[in-house]
Amino acid sequence: AENRPRVWVSQPLFDDIVERLGEYFEVDATREVTAWSPAQVAEKLRGADGALVTLNERIGAEAIAGAATLRAIANVGVGYNNLDVAALKARGIVATNTPDVLTETTADMAFALLMAAARRITEGERWLREGRWTQWSFDTLLGGDVHGSTLGILGMGRIGQGIARRGAHGFGMRVLYHNRSRLPDGIESNCRAAYVDFDTLLAESDHLVLVLPYSPATHHVIDSAALAKMKPTATLTNIARGGLVDEDALADALAGGWLSSAALDVFEGEPAVNPKLLALRNVVLTPHAGSASLATRRAMATLAVDNMIAALGRGPQAGNPPT
Ligand code: DGY
Repeated sequence: AENRPRVWVSQPLFDDIVERLGEYFEVDATREVTAWSPAQVAEKLRGADGALVTLNERIGAEAIAGAATLRAIANVGVGYNNLDVAALKARGIVATNTPDVLTETTADMAFALLMAAARRITEGERWLREGRWTQWSFDTLLGGDVHGSTLGILGMGRIGQGIARRGAHGFGMRVLYHNRSRLPDGIESNCRAAYVDFDTLLAESDHLVLVLPYSPATHHVIDSAALAKMKPTATLTNIARGGLVDEDALADALAGGWLSSAALDVFEGEPAVNPKLLALRNVVLTPHAGSASLATRRAMATLAVDNMIAALGRGPQAGNPPT
């Protein structure tokens, strides 16, 4: 076991999957869900050759500077705003994420949330559980339609395209999208999606879904000005990162009737949730669970383990680290 690379696993994944790392590495596997402080993350990275981390662990410049032997970070997740990519690159540390394996599961979740917001599913359940359902009535909990409406997608990567296909092919929706760059015709026609500018997307969407990466450039892309351009009957769904939305502005719009409802799987200060949102009836709140199917979480862990083995030059893919 001398001189085997050392790999830290920051959170419990699946034991049988993490075990595979032990064939190649000295593994420091976390057994309990842990809220690591930045100082503890830095301490764990010091002396490690690789680390499997989640969105909970911020891998910042300071921790990287102190990790002289670090060669690879495998992020268990597709979003990687928790990583200081520039600092990793400068040191030649390989960084990997888990795209593709979670695309369809996360697109499913986007639809679950969109439909829950449109059809007031969680609001209705709370109402029922409170014992307020005394008689079926014609005008109780009326929502908006999903089928045949206009679906807006902000961020048209793999997951955005999965949402577009569901909307167009499954629900007969008209699909509009905005993205940094327009997609090739073939993808557009497969998704039956039309490219529009940001303001048109805001103005025309009945259901707007956020699926774009979070960075300083996309911080609060949905602010009060953007919300004011949306239809008062529209819904907003966020399955990407909380920092994309100005939550105070969103709460004001939902309370003021300028937006019909919202569904949020991610929050700026998660796991804390803005109390203004918690106080509203017309917002669906879920605990960052977009990729949370058993099969997909297993696939994510497997891919992260494979990425680490390849990045540190072990296993069948030795010499071909993923980029
Ligand atoms: C992702 O894959 O980005 C999820 O948010 C979990 O990290």
